[in-house]
Amino acid sequence: MANIILIAAIGKNFELGKNNDLIWKIKEDMKFFQKHTTGHKIVMGYNTFISLGKLLPKREHIVLTHRNLQREGILFFHDYSILKQYLSSIDETVYIIGGASIYKLFLDEANELLLTEIHETCSDATTFFPKFSYELFDKEILSTHQENGIIYEHSKFIKKK
Ligand SMILES: NC(=O)c1ccc[n+]([C@@H]2O[C@H](COP(=O)([O-])OP(=O)(O)OC[C@H]3O[C@@H](n4cnc5c(N)ncnc54)[C@H](OP(=O)(O)O)[C@@H]3O)[C@@H](O)[C@H]2O)c1
Repeated sequence: MANIILIAAIGKNFELGKNNDLIWKIKEDMKFFQKHTTGHKIVMGYNTFISLGKLLPKREHIVLTHRNLQREGILFFHDYSILKQYLSSIDETVYIIGGASIYKLFLDEANELLLTEIHETCSDATTFFPKFSYELFDKEILSTHQENGIIYEHSKFIKKK
């Protein structure tokens, strides 16, 4: 079974995105995302795939969509249960990179949540990270940062056995 890690940057109210884009663009956080996901499979929903605008280097892209798409270098799945079967047949770390609908699908499957907790709110956010039970996880704050006046933490939530 794949080791499933959800990676996301969220606001105080779990804000994720606005109008199919990110709310906060934090350079150092992008580097954190890159450092963790490089060399791994990344799973995303169609909207996130579109919002990326390009393929991310050195990562195998897996996209969940109802659309009948084919593109070199991307593995498309049209059915969540088939994607889950596929992930249960591989023995490697896989990052779920969003968006909201995909995090929701994989929250129960995740061994770990790697969250950038941004100390900001966004009143017109359009997508949110799913609420989860803190008591199901052990939290470790990895580091605290500040960029352009935005304070944020990198936190690891490890699911309790
Ligand atoms: N802050 C962060 O860390 C972060 C990370 C990622 C994304 N985001 C933001 O999140 C937003 C996008 O999130 P979202 O929830 O709107 O979209 P999403 O989860 O990226 O994609 C949703 C799409 O995925 C496909 N899908 C979902 N469930 C499916 C299923 N069971 N079977 C088949 N296809 C399925 C559908 O595509 P089809 O319509 O093609 O069928 C659906 O419309 C954007 O604003 C983005 O910038 C933020």
